Amino acid sequence: MNIVLTGFMASGKTEISKAIADISKYTLVDTDDIIVNKMNMTVNEIFEKYGEEYFRKVEREAVLEAAAMDDAVIATGGGVVLDAKNIDALRKTGIIFNLSPSFSVIKERIEEARKTRPLMANESVQKIEQRFNDRKKFYDNCDCKIKVISGRAPKSYALEILKTAEEKSN
Ligand code: S3P
Repeated sequence: MNIVLTGFMASGKTEISKAIADISKYTLVDTDDIIVNKMNMTVNEIFEKYGEEYFRKVEREAVLEAAAMDDAVIATGGGVVLDAKNIDALRKTGIIFNLSPSFSVIKERIEEARKTRPLMANESVQKIEQRFNDRKKFYDNCDCKIKVISGRAPKSYALEILKTAEEKSN
């Protein structure tokens, strides 16, 4: 059984997945890392050279690869939830958690987040908030919601998620 983390860009998926892997049997997997390693390019470079549609195609392959694993904690890219086929595949082998911050938390992280995220890089805060709101219905379709607040340690989320995953898998 896998633990799948979804959530908007900069909601904490990477840090929390690492914290889970550090204290459990789950192997760390990150769909963006699979893509970057496969293409030998950064996410920024892939978007720039090939565009978002192509990125989504490679992302789908990365999701299938991750979903085929067992006992993995899978950090997904923020847009993975947009394709129902991705969620279907991940749900077959895992429990899908959604890391859910309010937009104010994302706003605090925007300047750092922009550097590696093409869909934030040149966007106004209003545009990013619009995308955040537009995606809400996709994130709401996940199995378990974990409220994200500023200043809570990744390990604390990790413990909560591991406990919930254990309860759900029994
Ligand atoms: C994206 C999120 C990014 C990355 C790409 C697109 C998105 O991952 O997959 O830039 O559409 O939300 P993170 O959620 O890890 O930033």
